[in-house]
Amino acid sequence: MSTQKRQEPDPSLRGGPHVDPEEAILGCRGVSKTFGAVTAVDDVTLGIEKGEWISIVGPNGAGKTTLLNMMNGFYTPDAGGQIFFKGEDVTGLPEHKRARRGLGRTFQGLELFESEDVIENIMTVRAVHERPNLLEALLFYGSGRKTEARNMRRVEEIIDYLELWEYRHAKISALPLGIRRRVDLARSLALEPDVLLLDEAMSGLTFDEKYDMVRFLTDLHEQENLTLVMIEHDLEVVTDVSDRMIVLQEGGLLARGPPEQVAADPEVISVYTGVD
Ligand SMILES: Nc1ncnc2c1ncn2[C@@H]1O[C@H](COP(=O)(O)OP(=O)(O)OP(=O)(O)O)[C@@H](O)[C@H]1O
Ligand SMILES: [Mg+2]
Repeated sequence: MSTQKRQEPDPSLRGGPHVDPEEAILGCRGVSKTFGAVTAVDDVTLGIEKGEWISIVGPNGAGKTTLLNMMNGFYTPDAGGQIFFKGEDVTGLPEHKRARRGLGRTFQGLELFESEDVIENIMTVRAVHERPNLLEALLFYGSGRKTEARNMRRVEEIIDYLELWEYRHAKISALPLGIRRRVDLARSLALEPDVLLLDEAMSGLTFDEKYDMVRFLTDLHEQENLTLVMIEHDLEVVTDVSDRMIVLQEGGLLARGPPEQVAADPEVISVYTGVD
């Protein structure tokens, strides 16, 4: 744990290059998060460029989810830390407002409505997004149906894109993990994000299910120009798909750079294997 705050990351940090967080599509500067005596994230500065596919790796408890939670606004960083999205300081902006500006995410623990079906799960996100306030509702009486039709169209597009046709009316609780993770992805797409944060979207999946998930993410990245920030433990997937890789250890940034280079770094290897 560092005792002195750095203004910028150590220039000798393994793997460079440094992307300025304010010029990046998504960035954080000097971000820390403590829970009581635990420093979950310790003075992290990084920038993610538009159109990049970044992977965040690191051992259990390294602070990966906490960092993502600060990026999307679920947690506020400790005093002094800043989060930037599309060049604006969004540190004080709540989660739902960041989501409306185009910052989407999926959840490590899947936060789906178990007793609802697939369409309802995706639709709920759209409905919350579109819900007019009472005044708007009175002024635009009758436009509700149009909004609903537009929402339904978008939901059907997503279902098409992620090949979820046969599960449209299936209850979440009845679905296998691979499909549930796909529904979580579908939900995150409902607000039409520009940047998507994925927290272990492939965790627990079979080889075939992972293959499908990689295929969908690759399409989204290439065809929709979606910027992806992915926490992932499977280093084979990480090196296969990402433009850059970031390694967290004990809350701090250990390395960043092209995945082949970072994965071959002796210090990174020792973190994973415990061997110097
Ligand atoms: N809400 C919280 N309250 C207290 N401690 C927390 C909280 N969230 C995270 N922590 C602690 O912060 C540290 C980092 O947790 P975090 O979940 O960010 O790690 P992670 O890298 O995502 O791990 P994993 O690979 O297991 O998902 C851990 O020691 C964890 O116990
Ligand atoms: Mg986690």
